[in-house]
Amino acid sequence: MISSIDFAELYRRHLLHSQRTPRPASVWDARAKELSRKAQHSSYAQDFIAHMDLDGVSTLLDVGCGPGTICLPLAHRLQHVYGLDYSAGMLDCLVESAADQKLTNVTALHLSWDSDWSGVPVCDIAVASRSSMVNDLALAIEKLNKHARKRVYMTHIVGGHFIDAQIASLLGRVHAAVPDYIYVVNILYAMGIHPTLSYIETPSRLAGAKDFTGFAEKVAGSVGELTPPELATLHAWYNDNPERAQSGVAPMQWALLSWKPKITVIPARRSA
Ligand SMILES: C[S@@+](CC[C@H](N)C(=O)[O-])C[C@H]1O[C@@H](n2cnc3c(N)ncnc32)[C@H](O)[C@@H]1O
Repeated sequence: MISSIDFAELYRRHLLHSQRTPRPASVWDARAKELSRKAQHSSYAQDFIAHMDLDGVSTLLDVGCGPGTICLPLAHRLQHVYGLDYSAGMLDCLVESAADQKLTNVTALHLSWDSDWSGVPVCDIAVASRSSMVNDLALAIEKLNKHARKRVYMTHIVGGHFIDAQIASLLGRVHAAVPDYIYVVNILYAMGIHPTLSYIETPSRLAGAKDFTGFAEKVAGSVGELTPPELATLHAWYNDNPERAQSGVAPMQWALLSWKPKITVIPARRSA
């Protein structure tokens, strides 16, 4: 019976199997300025916000907010927004951008998914945009539910690969997929919550390189430093069809799930 399947535990096992160890905040600190630049012209953020119901909403909590991709554009329309992130570099960008835009209703919360959230305000809406690859997904969902009065919005990866499958296989760097959005659906189902589901497509991280050097830099940014034989293989593939490479290969897909929060007590779980 489906009710006897512990999807929260399956998620934990899948994450362990994928060998994706949680990244320290310093990794995100190093990417903060680049992500902040991108966030300012993000069609992803526009799509995300277009799916939100802001009727009667005045406060929002954005968890793993990064440079404020979602909460910052919304600060112009809401009474107060809170951006929570464990990366000080990301929060510096959020605060700087808020000041540039003369916003005085943005509060940065330097906390982690794993922190004690007893001081985190309960808001009308809680958001987790591309930030839910955590060790304990069910606990993260419980925390969002406890901190949202009206609605929760979450995007989680579809398919479980951050790098294009074609490039990964070309370089012999095929890794196990990380647990994708279907675990979110199933964990919510076990909580008696039936989310609305849609999808947002973003260009591949490898898109937009002007030449081979730029393309190789993007690939290295995704998979780590390339060896000389890998570079040679990539170069041959690039020369074979530069337009294909410049378009960045396959786009990425994100599942956008939204639901009405419900406080659930899952037996034998830690308290959120
Ligand atoms: C891919 S970025 C997404 C940023 C933004 N939400 C967006 O959609 O553009 C992931 C963000 O989650 C944050 N993050 C990752 N693990 C976290 C954790 N355990 N606690 C708090 N924030 C975390 C990172 O610092 C980073 O800002």
